Amino acid sequence: MPGKPIVFGTGLSGMVGSRFAEMFGGEFELVNLDLTTGVDITQAEAVDRALNHPAATVIHLAAFTDVSKAYSETDNKEGLVYQVNVLGTKNVAVACKKYNHYLIHISTDFVFDGVNPPAGGYRESDQPHPIEWYGQTKLLAEDEVTRSGCRSVIIRTAFPFRARFELKPDLVRKILSQLQTNTLHPMFSNQIITPTFIDDLGEVFKTFIIKRPSGIYHCVGSTFLSPLELAQKIAALFEIKADIKPISFKEFMKIGPRPRQQFLKISNSKLNHDFGIKMKTIDEALLTLKGQI
Ligand SMILES: NC(=O)c1ccc[n+]([C@@H]2O[C@H](COP(=O)([O-])OP(=O)(O)OC[C@H]3O[C@@H](n4cnc5c(N)ncnc54)[C@H](OP(=O)(O)O)[C@@H]3O)[C@@H](O)[C@H]2O)c1
Repeated sequence: MPGKPIVFGTGLSGMVGSRFAEMFGGEFELVNLDLTTGVDITQAEAVDRALNHPAATVIHLAAFTDVSKAYSETDNKEGLVYQVNVLGTKNVAVACKKYNHYLIHISTDFVFDGVNPPAGGYRESDQPHPIEWYGQTKLLAEDEVTRSGCRSVIIRTAFPFRARFELKPDLVRKILSQLQTNTLHPMFSNQIITPTFIDDLGEVFKTFIIKRPSGIYHCVGSTFLSPLELAQKIAALFEIKADIKPISFKEFMKIGPRPRQQFLKISNSKLNHDFGIKMKTIDEALLTLKGQI
């Protein structure tokens, strides 16, 4: 009997990757490549050694994901953000090409500027235009994947959230815990985001490991809404009485220098059209999350 398919993963200890491992660790033989297992993706030789294996799938999640810290390294190609996001991705993609692995590369909605998205949200064919260093390095990482010529797919996701992960908060858990302690900051009323339930992303990863598509896919939730509306939905679902104050995007922009994307409406219609995958609406996702908590 053949064994379980081998899937190498970078960043499987992270917020998204560890949920995929929880969900599908029984179906795939997951090999974790990150700092905890001694593989620093900025080191080309270490990556080459780790991926020197008969053709398999590699899911590349490892990244420098703190957007504000990333901003302090703007344009610094010697800095950790560029080294991890761009050169680290190049090392992974080059090794995938060399050993004929199929690469699933994870990217972000921050490749868009959020200025004037189409009514139905940004599609995969829309021109990226990142406005800060994290998004810029993630777009350069996409270019490295394409340039390597390896068999690959690029998944762009947005504001991922899950029921539990003690190492890092996400937007939904942050809002919930602040609502519970009555410490919620004012929420943007005129910013739009497309939050994504990480369990749905896990299902997409599984489908892509099996079907091996190429190109770019926006794998995001099925609802665009403002952070204010998100907080109101969370408060209603968890029956927390709270006076949630709005703040306008313009006011918030005065607080810090990092440019913020205002209208990140992202369309998942290509994913739905090509694979019949229906990502949860925010109401469906929050209800599932509440059950898991
Ligand atoms: N979180 C978001 O809001 C968001 C939004 C859109 C897209 N994404 C993308 O989704 C992916 C996963 O994000 P996440 O939130 O799960 O990330 P995360 O929780 O910050 O985890 C990052 C992972 O990368 C690993 N890593 C960092 N530097 C490394 C290096 N030099 N060598 C090897 N491994 C390294 C970390 O390993 P250690 O634990 O060993 O340090 C960790 O496992 C990323 O590609 C991110 O850009 C995230």
